[in-house]
Amino acid sequence: MDDTHASLTRARQVIAAAGRLVVFTGAGVSADSGVPTFRGHSGESFWGQYDPAQLATPQGFRANPQLVYDWYSWRRSQLQSIEPNAAHRTISRWQEAKRAVVITQNVDGLHERVAPQEAIVLRLHGSLAQDRCSACDFREAVDFQHLPKLHRCPRCGELVRPDVVWFGEELDEYVWQMAEQAAREAEVMLVIGTSGEVWPAVGLVHLAARNGEVIVVNLEPGSLDDCATVALYGRAADLVPRLAEDAG
Ligand code: OAD
Repeated sequence: MDDTHASLTRARQVIAAAGRLVVFTGAGVSADSGVPTFRGHSGESFWGQYDPAQLATPQGFRANPQLVYDWYSWRRSQLQSIEPNAAHRTISRWQEAKRAVVITQNVDGLHERVAPQEAIVLRLHGSLAQDRCSACDFREAVDFQHLPKLHRCPRCGELVRPDVVWFGEELDEYVWQMAEQAAREAEVMLVIGTSGEVWPAVGLVHLAARNGEVIVVNLEPGSLDDCATVALYGRAADLVPRLAEDAG
């Protein structure tokens, strides 16, 4: 038996024995759908090409709101033709069969598109499908087929911005509390496609590892492997469906 085969078998057994799963995802779960990741060697990653200080901070937005809003419009337009992949679909089956709670750092909405009704998707970093006012609590849905231009809040007149969490900003408190509880109580957490570089999100993996088992699926070895019972290397759209096969 080679290493991958043995690790797959072990991971399947851990998943099959779990009453309930917690699935924690990052940009790598959507990479096989064609969504760029933020970091990586390819040079095509977002932060390999663009400056996060300019495009993903409140200061960057204050300095050049048009540039920032246009960049998110471009990301929204990319999503018009993108479909969930086999990893998202497998996770959605676990949401059904294992009442899996999904905690995602992604803002692309791909989990939600295939999730069963009433399944829980905790979005730590917000959503591209929504804008919010930069000053008051006004929020509005964004239609990806008719992308809005930079505009002002109809309630208070300040600029509207994408409803995503930028560097230096707090996460939504309710979402964070739910995610923390799920991580603390997780029998098994499956961690898919994240570099594990962004806090506080990645703290949830360390929390889960205190009491439960952690299975990591990633293209390459990374810092979260230290938390893992099993680490598997390869493409999420290939490996995740194989994890759902019969444990044998
Ligand atoms: P990263 O881009 O930092 O990491 C993506 C990870 O996925 C890397 O470890 C890749 O090796 C791996 N990967 C790439 N392709 C894969 C594939 N096909 N299958 C499996 N794994 C693959 O993305 P995140 O960890 O999600 O924040 O980044 C965390 C946060 O940093 C994001 O939510 C974003 C960013 O700044 C906000 O937008 C607030």
